[in-house]
Amino acid sequence: MVLNKKKRCHIRTFGCQMNVHDSEQMMELLEKEGYEETDDIRGADLIIVNTCSVREKAEQKIHSFLGRVRKDKTRNPDLIIGITGCVAQQWGRKFLDKVHHLDFVLGTHNIHRLPQIVSEVERSRSRIAETTFHKCVQSLGILTLPKKGEVNAFITIMQGCNNFCTYCIVPYLRGREESRESGDILDEIRALAAHGVREVTLLGQNVNSYGNTLKNGADFPTLLAMINEVEGIERIRFTTSHPKDLSDGLVDCFASLDKVCEHIHLPIQSGSDSVLKRMGRGYTSGEYLEKVEKLRARCPDISITTDIIVGFPGESDEDFQKTIDLMGKVRFDNLFSFKYSDRPGIASAGYDGKVVEDVKRERLAVLQKLQESYTLEKNRALVGKEEELLIEGASKNNEDEVKGRTRTNRIVNLPGENSMKGKTVPVKIVKAYMHSLRGEPLSGKEV
Ligand code: 5AD
Ligand code: SF4
Repeated sequence: MVLNKKKRCHIRTFGCQMNVHDSEQMMELLEKEGYEETDDIRGADLIIVNTCSVREKAEQKIHSFLGRVRKDKTRNPDLIIGITGCVAQQWGRKFLDKVHHLDFVLGTHNIHRLPQIVSEVERSRSRIAETTFHKCVQSLGILTLPKKGEVNAFITIMQGCNNFCTYCIVPYLRGREESRESGDILDEIRALAAHGVREVTLLGQNVNSYGNTLKNGADFPTLLAMINEVEGIERIRFTTSHPKDLSDGLVDCFASLDKVCEHIHLPIQSGSDSVLKRMGRGYTSGEYLEKVEKLRARCPDISITTDIIVGFPGESDEDFQKTIDLMGKVRFDNLFSFKYSDRPGIASAGYDGKVVEDVKRERLAVLQKLQESYTLEKNRALVGKEEELLIEGASKNNEDEVKGRTRTNRIVNLPGENSMKGKTVPVKIVKAYMHSLRGEPLSGKEV
């Protein structure tokens, strides 16, 4: 008897956590159609490139990846290659004209249509582009159960964005903001908890405005309070928060809801009020600092991370200095920093005062060096302290060790075995590095 061999799919993901989760959802759908995931590009029957368009660099990487897989298609003409995500949404059908070895283009609102599109390509070998925006995005609710016993999972709670920050392409490619019904989100989280998930990360471009498009009046703090009651879930995280929508009610959640972890990613983008104004961010640096004070007053140990763009059009040396000054005032726990990148169609692409590449590079280096000193300082301050860890599994580089995460989102490695996975354990921090900490189990203690 000849067994039907499973078809193999390789998904290459570029960009943010939202994209990582979209890829998980695509794989979930394909598994139902008899595909299995593979890391081996050469052995794949289907290659999906899930793309990000936020910065030019990501887009360049996508084109070079597409260039590399052309050879695979020549070798194996049955191979199907598709592109999904923001770049797919942006280029649509034009992508098929530009890249001749591409079989399909699937936009950001059409993940749920992936199985149909793949089988249509398989059947007719036609080339397909589907980038329609849908009012109710069906792909938001595709349940992706943990495949390798993962203890953490992503859940999309909303899609799109209405803010139109002048540098950002997201609202054009992910559409208008739309929240999922809280009942659906809770059902998904209960199912994940039943499959061993202990930590959930709620995803949205601006989770603080969750509920604005819903009729039942549920806002983000209400949603968090409901998730806090789900049995089996021990930790709740969320990203991304917009400073202008960070309400006192949400600040309160960090202290009043025991499962909400003490970490907020709160992108400031710049410390200069005139730059913030031209970015269309809707807050001043002073207002941002007030929110930071409120967060720290209500939750002293909270970890605050941020995004900063250097070299936005018109950013002078003085503007940049204001960003440095603000960093000194806040002392972020971590920073994601980017050189401004002109994207086709965004408002700031038409702004005067473009900053030259060398200056952007220099400013980025200054920022990153400064942040490294703050990160190390913050990590070192934890040495000798007790932390609660959720064990995620084996350490990357050492089989005799396990890796866990503090509630403030720091990675800690410690001696241990895989059976500890999913357990919440107390540890003492004994060493601090730039990107991780080292811990020792505090045996005999329970969290
Ligand atoms: N150039 C550089 N960085 C950008 N970001 C968004 N758009 C751009 C752009 N055009 C950054 C912002 C955002 C993060 C996800 O990406 O800092 O918070
Ligand atoms: Fe882009 Fe601004 Fe929306 Fe974030 S809030 S996705 S930066 S438009």
